[in-house]
Amino acid sequence: MKKKIVIAITGASGSIYAKLLLQKLQNLHSQVAEVGVVMSDNAKQVWQFELGNDDYNNIPYNFYAKTDFMAPFASGSAKFDTMVVVPCSMGTLGRIASGVSDDLVTRAADVILKERRKLILVARDTPLNLIHLRNMATVTEAGAIICPAIPSFYSKPKTIEEVAMTVVNRLIDLMGLEDESYRWGSKNE
Ligand SMILES: Cc1cc2nc3c(=O)[nH]c(=O)nc-3n(C[C@H](O)[C@H](O)[C@H](O)COP(=O)(O)O)c2cc1C
Repeated sequence: MKKKIVIAITGASGSIYAKLLLQKLQNLHSQVAEVGVVMSDNAKQVWQFELGNDDYNNIPYNFYAKTDFMAPFASGSAKFDTMVVVPCSMGTLGRIASGVSDDLVTRAADVILKERRKLILVARDTPLNLIHLRNMATVTEAGAIICPAIPSFYSKPKTIEEVAMTVVNRLIDLMGLEDESYRWGSKNE
């Protein structure tokens, strides 16, 4: 079954994760039926600041305004099966944990949870306070997966992109997509 995927980009540090994930999904197009994207205002600001461009405008997926509750994935009936919030700010995490559905990011996450589908939050901040930790526990109890923006180094990445890909590769696995990537134990040097 090809997947219908929502990608929400929020204003935490780590726009590179969203950029690389969206590129990777284009490479895996044979497994993907549809990708809808929504960005928060802060996500655009952080992307511009960290990556020095507004290249999200060139990504060939349908982008929806965060105020657009007419977007298909604002309703469970559209049957989007997977949503990734990447990166996920602590503010968005808190709003999802509280059930605040006052924009398309939080409404889509609320829909995914109520439909018992897959919600993956690439939470990013450091250090974490007790409110962050409790919100992570709350969304996990509701069925979401916290996949923090914490790269690994055992594949010996050499560039920033390779470091970021260690997180993106885990996302691809969690989303249930098939891809060739570093696997501990098989290409282990
Ligand atoms: C350059 C930059 C980096 C930021 N990094 C983080 C971060 O890593 N984690 C976080 O929770 N907020 C971070 N923020 C703050 C969020 O953008 C801010 O809390 C915002 O209200 C989040 O809104 P959103 O979730 O709707 O995007 C950052 C802001 C800027 C300008």
